[in-house]
Amino acid sequence: MKKTMYTFVRFVLVIFLILSACTDKVTIGLLMDNYEQDRWQKDKDIFVRRIQELGSNVLVEVADGDFDKQLEQARKLLDAGVDLLVVVPADLNRAAEIVLEAHKKNVRVLSYDRLIKNCNLDFYISFDNVEVGKLQADYITSICPQGKYAIIGGAVSDNNSFLLRLGQMSVLEPLIEKGDIQLVYDQYVDQWNESEGYKHMKQCLEKNKSCPNAVLAANDELARGVLKALDEATMGGKVYICGQDAELDAIQRIVAGTQTMTVYKPIEAIATTAAELALKLAHDEDIPNIHISVNNGKKMVPSILLPSMVVNKETIKLTVIADGYLKENKIYP
Ligand code: GAL
Repeated sequence: MKKTMYTFVRFVLVIFLILSACTDKVTIGLLMDNYEQDRWQKDKDIFVRRIQELGSNVLVEVADGDFDKQLEQARKLLDAGVDLLVVVPADLNRAAEIVLEAHKKNVRVLSYDRLIKNCNLDFYISFDNVEVGKLQADYITSICPQGKYAIIGGAVSDNNSFLLRLGQMSVLEPLIEKGDIQLVYDQYVDQWNESEGYKHMKQCLEKNKSCPNAVLAANDELARGVLKALDEATMGGKVYICGQDAELDAIQRIVAGTQTMTVYKPIEAIATTAAELALKLAHDEDIPNIHISVNNGKKMVPSILLPSMVVNKETIKLTVIADGYLKENKIYP
């Protein structure tokens, strides 16, 4: 009888320990760069919702694109006692300072969507950004295999910009060597926004005194600026343009025929996975099945890289609508 009682108490205790390990409330700090593109608001909302669903707390700060502000916010969250920091870095290199400060307090850092370079970063979650560049260039070169191309790349403060270009160039280089494609403009931008896209497209038109056949714009906001400059030159709709992010107005341009394609990166997947991962890291749990690591210049960082997909006129329903990312009645009003 005594033995049965003992076994029962032990059983209850073990169950209690397991449950408390899973439900132990932690506080996650989330440092966003900005909400300039629609996706980032979604990233934040989904991440916060998932952390709360799983019974933990999350404190959010947004740096409005200013790294000094982001560093201050990191300090504020560390002082507030967060158990883990999740960072969308405003600057790929300087964000190493955040990792240093976090580690001083024994807090680990998960780099969200953008890699933090040259530091002892703990974990990285993103999409395969080289693949995104490949998808863009593959698609555009399949419909425009010869001609003049312009690249308007991403922000220099963001590691994704360089990965994207690697992917684009892996497709373009052989065609450039063959003489089928001439690269007439190739620039990174200061910010991932419309006015930069507009400015660079204007410069491209002025420099070349003629219009390229295709423009690889790094994201949809840049593509919007590119189209504005092309419209002013009465060339809108006559140039192949790609983008990234599957923003609502980009999808509407694809329907209207003024943008050729975009790349959709499922935000629900990255934000949910990141939230679950953040809780495991905060609880010091093992992260199973991580086979990928990415070199950040200082170490091989254990990573999760999610897949993305092409959206063109024909695949809008099968991708962004099927996924619940955008509403059909907003796209085709
Ligand atoms: C990049 C991201 C893109 C785009 C851009 C602008 O890091 O890969 O999807 O959103 O930031 O915010």
